[in-house]
Amino acid sequence: MKNLLILLSLAGLCNLASAADEPSPAALAGSNGCMICHNASQKLVGPAYKSIADKYQGQSDIQKTLVNKVRNGGAGAWGKIPMPAHPDATEENLNKIVAWILKGSPAN
Ligand code: HEC
Repeated sequence: MKNLLILLSLAGLCNLASAADEPSPAALAGSNGCMICHNASQKLVGPAYKSIADKYQGQSDIQKTLVNKVRNGGAGAWGKIPMPAHPDATEENLNKIVAWILKGSPAN
């Protein structure tokens, strides 16, 4: 019984460690090249993340649509300049980045 408790607490520690090692969504946006064209509050080539969050506020089903749009690229929602496709970004990372954008892209 005591051994089991020790094992369980070790497993808990490992969980904490791996959560801390995961890159933040902001870091993922950087390493996936999103910040080349996007910025939290200013329009660059693409719209500001805050504008994206405002535009889709309250649309609970928008997450998947936006993940697909980032993966496949496309134009028309903000203007004529297209966003290129991102075939190398993983679904998991795109989900994290888009959820973070929709939350208002907090710094931490
Ligand atoms: C080469 C420039 C460029 C890069 C790199 C880029 N974007 Fe974009 N992004 C754009 C442009 C331009 C638009 C506006 C497209 C439109 O008008 O439909 C856009 C639009 C978006 C939108 C809103 C889409 C919509 O339909 O409203 C999201 C979300 C987004 N980008 C996320 C990302 C993420 C996440 C990454 C990184 C994986 C990324 N972008 C990388 C240029 C870029």
